[in-house]
Amino acid sequence: LPVLQVRAALLAWFDAHARDLPWRAGAEGRRDPYRVWVSEILLQQTQVARGLTYYDRFLAAFPTVQALAAAPEADVLKAWEGCGYYARARNLHRAAKEVAERGFPAAYAGWLALPGVGPYTAAAVSSLTLGEARAVNDGNVRRVLARLWAEKTPTDAWVQARADEVLDPARPGAWNEAVMDLGATVCTPRAPRCPECPLAAHCAAFGSGQPTAYPAPKLR
Ligand code: ADE
Repeated sequence: LPVLQVRAALLAWFDAHARDLPWRAGAEGRRDPYRVWVSEILLQQTQVARGLTYYDRFLAAFPTVQALAAAPEADVLKAWEGCGYYARARNLHRAAKEVAERGFPAAYAGWLALPGVGPYTAAAVSSLTLGEARAVNDGNVRRVLARLWAEKTPTDAWVQARADEVLDPARPGAWNEAVMDLGATVCTPRAPRCPECPLAAHCAAFGSGQPTAYPAPKLR
C-alpha cells in the first residue's frame, strides 16, 4: 500500500468534507480535552446524530471538568438519561474528580489509567488534544482497513497493526477522525459509496468488485 499517497488522499478529503461537530472546535491536535473526552465516551454507545443532543445537554449541565467533579452523582446520572450504560457516566464522574485534583493527563498512558478510559478513548483523546500519534481502533476503522487490504477476517491485533502503520504521524488527530468520518459516511457497512471514496484507487476490496465482502460478516 502506498502509505504516503493514502494519507494525503484521505486527509485532503477530510479537509474538504469533515463533519462540523461541536467537540471539533479548536486547533488541530490541541482541542479542549474535557469536551473531546465527554464526546468520545458518549459516542461509544450513541450515533453521532443522537449524540449531539445529549452532548449539548451534558455540556450545558457541566461546562467544565470542575463542575462535573463537584456535582452530586444523582445530577450526573440525570444529565446522562437516555444515553444508557450508566456505568459510563459513573466512571466519567469518578475520573473527573481525579482530573479536577491532578489536572488532565499529559499523554496516552495517563488517560488509559483513568476509570472508564480504554485504549479507544485514550487514543482518540491523546491524538485529538495532545497531537500524540495513537491510532484508534473501533468498528469503523476495522471495516475501512479490512476493505483497504481486502482482509476477510481481521483480528484486533491485525487491525491495530494496520492502523498504526497508516496513521499519519504529522496529523494523528485529523487522521483518526478522517477514518471515522469515511467509515460513517462513505465506507458504510451495506452500501458503500465507492465512487465518492478518496481511497478507491488504493482499495483492494473495491478492486475485487465485492467491497461488502470485506470484512466477512461475523457468524452468529
Ligand atoms: N465517533 C466517535 N468519535 C468521533 C469523533 N471524534 N468524530 C466523529 N465521530 C466520532
